[in-house]
Amino acid sequence: MPVFMDRTRLSPAHLPKRLLHREKEFSLLRKFLEAGVERGDDVFYSRVQVVGPVGAGKTTLCLMAGQEMQRKHRNLTHAYVNLRRFTSSKVSIYRYLVKSVAEEAYSVSLSAEELLENLLHFLKNTGQRLIITFDDADYHVSMSRGRETVVYDFTRLHEFSSVRPLNVLGVVFVSRESGYGGYLDRAETSSLGASVLRLEPYTREQLIDILADRVSEAFVRGAVPDNVVEYVADVVSKPPYSGDVRLALDLLLYAGNLAENDGRDVVKVDDVRYALSETISVSRAAEYADLPEKPKAVLLSIAKVLQRRDEQTAELKEIREMFSLFCESHGLSESGFDKALSYLAERGYVEKRGDKVGLVGVDARRLSLLLEQLLKR
Ligand SMILES: Nc1ncnc2c1ncn2[C@@H]1O[C@H](COP(=O)(O)OP(=O)(O)O)[C@@H](O)[C@H]1O
Ligand SMILES: [Mg+2]
Repeated sequence: MPVFMDRTRLSPAHLPKRLLHREKEFSLLRKFLEAGVERGDDVFYSRVQVVGPVGAGKTTLCLMAGQEMQRKHRNLTHAYVNLRRFTSSKVSIYRYLVKSVAEEAYSVSLSAEELLENLLHFLKNTGQRLIITFDDADYHVSMSRGRETVVYDFTRLHEFSSVRPLNVLGVVFVSRESGYGGYLDRAETSSLGASVLRLEPYTREQLIDILADRVSEAFVRGAVPDNVVEYVADVVSKPPYSGDVRLALDLLLYAGNLAENDGRDVVKVDDVRYALSETISVSRAAEYADLPEKPKAVLLSIAKVLQRRDEQTAELKEIREMFSLFCESHGLSESGFDKALSYLAERGYVEKRGDKVGLVGVDARRLSLLLEQLLKR
């Protein structure tokens, strides 16, 4: 008997049917956003901060609230921008935003400011209204070090554009801490607004409910006994993990794969223990999970070459061959290798030295295990 019914249900990309134990937060976020839709003048827009630790459901909460607003209101779009996917350059972020909302308002030759202004004109002229979520905004702010940030622009839209009505109705900034690591100045902090939604870490009991719910979607009935779910909840509710549901789901996926590889139809507590011992520190694991597919594949290729060779760095030529093999076996196109490699180097995942590449801050064995898991779903 198989263990999984549908393992993709454990992936962070999968939106669960419901967000247990976040009902209050959900309705509060909706209320904040509704205030922007029902505004009294043509300048007001809602600014909301969603703050909470890794795996507290921040991203999911915003995506679900955005979807609901879209469903409920005509001519309203929710745009989701994960700032961790970009370098700190505003222009690349706005290109992405404008392209995804208003292809007509986009052109490569435009500066960040021009793109923003074009977007606002587009919204005004078409009557389209927009709610935007900027996820991992603290990451962006800390990378920007003194340069103007997206947070700066989007807390002050009404000041530096004269386009009216301003058809951006709401902006949600997601971060791990409300202080942004001290990188924001006082004015920015105050214009971020008083609407702060704090997601407290899930407790053990809440985690058990949430995981049982997800397990019933992903696994065959009976494949994950209660004591396994309880063990995962136990581990994850304690420091250093602080209720990280993503880690919990990763552990369950990993444990399920172990059971499957052994030909068992029931997951054991010891599978979870094994999975835990093989898991990279939480915060890094979440970062790897957020990488786009091609960089993930290139990183996996590097890790595999390094495991085979056991040297400090791997030769580009060999990495490229490994990458081709991987793409072939996974039905991916082989394009984009160089771009993906620069992506990784710019963000500090790898170090390039001439035609050699090294890993930063992680061993090849664990990284390959993690990436193989991530690329499977
Ligand atoms: N209350 C919940 N019910 C079901 N799944 C949840 C819940 N909270 C978080 N998750 C799941 O946990 C994972 C991490 O959530 P995410 O929204 O990415 O957290 P964050 O953005 O705070 O790091 C996702 O797969 C999400 O579906
Ligand atoms: Mg998130």
